[in-house]
Amino acid sequence: MTQDEAKQLAAVAALAHVRDDMIVGVGTGSTVNLFIDALASANLALRGAISSSEASTARLRKHGIEVVDLNSADAPEVYIDGADEADSHLRLIKGGGGALTREKIVAAASGRFICIVDESKVVDVLGKFPLPVEVIPMARSYIARQMIRLGGTPVWREGFITDNGNHILDVHNFKIVDPVGLETEINQLAGVVTVGLFARRPADLLIIGGKDGVKTLR
Ligand code: 5RP
Repeated sequence: MTQDEAKQLAAVAALAHVRDDMIVGVGTGSTVNLFIDALASANLALRGAISSSEASTARLRKHGIEVVDLNSADAPEVYIDGADEADSHLRLIKGGGGALTREKIVAAASGRFICIVDESKVVDVLGKFPLPVEVIPMARSYIARQMIRLGGTPVWREGFITDNGNHILDVHNFKIVDPVGLETEINQLAGVVTVGLFARRPADLLIIGGKDGVKTLR
């Protein structure tokens, strides 16, 4: 089975958690793209979608799914998003696609957060995937020095500007044994917009696609 086939299994399985009349939060990335396509094929009478990125907004609209503003809509009952890594406590690294800030906002505002991944994303200890940190541009070097102080190796994602006009540092070599502690510590640094650790608000359900079909962790 290819990784894309495994992503497809997880994406389609997430549809079971979406019903008519819902406002659905929609994440970002290739797994979510498959979910958006499946959602469109399901022809549900949604009240709308809250999108976490310009890319997902464009894909939702292309399918004729109405995108509504989080400020003027009810909170999404469910949020469906992918991840770069997930552990058995449903704590995540996200932000490989650079949409971590809006993803964290929609996850926080939603009733249930359902994460869809292929089995290669499931790890014992988070941190093999470089941890994305969105920073205010003028703070980039300062935050890079702080990441070194914390034991990481930051790499500026050069040429990439987030939907919010900010920069991303991808921090390598963190072995994240205390995800809540590291998330809290990085969050508090002046100039950090969002750290791509989703541990204080982990997923509520992890849907994993793989060679043995679909597994869930809650
Ligand atoms: C985007 C994300 C994505 O969910 C994450 O990068 C996984 O992407 P993909 O489904 O393409 O593997 O956090 O900011």
